[in-house]
Amino acid sequence: MDVAARYGPWAVIAGASEGTGRAFARQIAAHGVPSVLVARRAAPLEALADEIRVESGVACVTAAIDLAAADATEQVIAAVADRPVGLYISNAGGDPNGNGFLDLDVSAWVDLVQRNVMTVLKCTHHFAGAMRARGRGGIILVNSGACYGGLAMMGPYCGSKAFNLCLAEALWAELRPFGVDVLTLVLGKTDTPEFRRYMAEKGMPLPADCAAADDVARVGLARLPHGPIKNWGEDDDEARMTSQSAAQRRERIVAIERMTKQMIGQDAVG
Ligand SMILES: NC(=O)c1ccc[n+]([C@@H]2O[C@H](COP(=O)([O-])OP(=O)(O)OC[C@H]3O[C@@H](n4cnc5c(N)ncnc54)[C@H](OP(=O)(O)O)[C@@H]3O)[C@@H](O)[C@H]2O)c1
Repeated sequence: MDVAARYGPWAVIAGASEGTGRAFARQIAAHGVPSVLVARRAAPLEALADEIRVESGVACVTAAIDLAAADATEQVIAAVADRPVGLYISNAGGDPNGNGFLDLDVSAWVDLVQRNVMTVLKCTHHFAGAMRARGRGGIILVNSGACYGGLAMMGPYCGSKAFNLCLAEALWAELRPFGVDVLTLVLGKTDTPEFRRYMAEKGMPLPADCAAADDVARVGLARLPHGPIKNWGEDDDEARMTSQSAAQRRERIVAIERMTKQMIGQDAVG
């Protein structure tokens, strides 16, 4: 796949300073696509941008932004300025809490929902609009198996990831006719610095069967044209994370699309 032709000219990676976001940034640059790298910490972003410029010779812009801020999207848009964006990757989205719902002040959950729902919604709306007008582009919403239902100690996280799942499915259906690819990449245990910190805090060892960040980025980019869902470690027709495989969920969307077209008697859904 010619990533630059399909998903250039520029990429935006939200949550790029380490782990899977960092891996996406390096691999996208290796395909010749310059990127705007966003995360809270400026220093690791700058170091990564320097590395990418040397390694791949492509431009790299950094923006230290807290994606949980109410005006995060406006800050991202300002940092991107007039660069045309053909690839938006929402990677930031882990649960830093791992606590029961009532064990934290509600502000912790509001921050998580703001970052994982409102900022993703607003950034996706902004970047997808320009992609649709251009007739090409790609959107990856990095997700978690938690998207398939509520789990104790993870309520708001599960809810926010379910939002990402449904948004990605809907946008896959809506934007496909306009040449815009949408994928939600549903991860399981993944070896990221954040997951290592989390396990260390809980006094637990890192599981041996974690996915590697580089593999996640490689598979995510390769699967982007084949959305709306990639369940990590599962074939398209396998269903281990949930009762429905990625293929069955895709078929559900297409079947309802077909029924709607028949019902309204016109090609209103693309
Ligand atoms: N690791 C796993 O085992 C696992 C399992 C399932 C799903 N996932 C998914 O994979 C993605 C990456 O997870 P991760 O383990 O690397 O943890 P993460 O906490 O999502 O961190 C990933 C990146 O996001 C940035 N980030 C986090 N909060 C941010 C904020 N408020 N504003 C701006 N940037 C922010 C971090 O950099 P800064 O700290 O510099 O801001 C880092 O570069 C997430 O969407 C997560 O849900 C991970």
